[in-house]
Amino acid sequence: MTAQVIPTIQELRGALASIRSAGRTIGLVPTMGALHAGHGRLIETARRETGCVVVSIFVNPIQFDRSDDYERYPRPLSIDVEFCSARGVDFVFAPSAKEMYPDTERAFVEVAGVSEHLCGQFRPGHFRGVATVVLKLLNIVQPDRAYFGEKDAQQLAVIRRMVSDLNVPVAIVEVPTVRDADGLALSSRNQHLSPEERRIAPMLSLALKTARDLISGGETRPAAIKREALRILEEYSEVRVEYLEIVGAEDMQPTGEITGPVRVAGAIWIGKTRLIDNVLCAPGGAHPTQTARG
Ligand code: PAF
Repeated sequence: MTAQVIPTIQELRGALASIRSAGRTIGLVPTMGALHAGHGRLIETARRETGCVVVSIFVNPIQFDRSDDYERYPRPLSIDVEFCSARGVDFVFAPSAKEMYPDTERAFVEVAGVSEHLCGQFRPGHFRGVATVVLKLLNIVQPDRAYFGEKDAQQLAVIRRMVSDLNVPVAIVEVPTVRDADGLALSSRNQHLSPEERRIAPMLSLALKTARDLISGGETRPAAIKREALRILEEYSEVRVEYLEIVGAEDMQPTGEITGPVRVAGAIWIGKTRLIDNVLCAPGGAHPTQTARG
């Protein structure tokens, strides 16, 4: 069945009112489009767990810190709608920027603490833009459950914190990262990589995996772990490391000696493309999902 594409907030609210009064649960998968197998996993999980699946496709201008990144962000809407239809999505909410932000004066959501380090340090205003649009989407759709990928672990931490602090009645569901066979985490930005850049891109996941192996082997000193991981990336002159950091699995604050679950997270530039990735790690080989929220 073809997913119904809805461009306005009013129409979507109307359609969802009858779903809700029929007693069906609603799952929201917020996206910026250019859908790939990672989004596919989010949609499939929502499909399994809820009675009605809404995918939002909106390239959110207020979360981009560079206008060239916003302009060149891929927008293949009709292909995305086919992708959603093939996976049993009920509604694709695809609003214009004017529909979402009719005025220039507006309220924003700031989530302190978890937003500060990693991407927050290098992309000013990014998480404020993400938190604001996600809260708007949650208010528009009022889903029972909303689905986000582990690849954007800091985004997920920001959203969890916002939902908890602002008492938003929704369950946030984390879905594991989907990777290509060589380890590269799927991302809509991967399509900007040249064949040569694509060959080098999996080095980020290799560096993170190296860090994870050291941590599960008993290494507890962040500096020593980062040194080994960075050594892998430094072999490639095409790679510019923006950050490679070890943070608390929940609070996203840089750690001292590792004594509990942590995330190793990295952002690199290859040419004009920025890639991020992260892995959850537990010291001394304990399974991280036993000690941190999966
Ligand atoms: O992860 C994304 O695609 C975006 O940051 C999100 C959550 C859809 C908000 O625009």
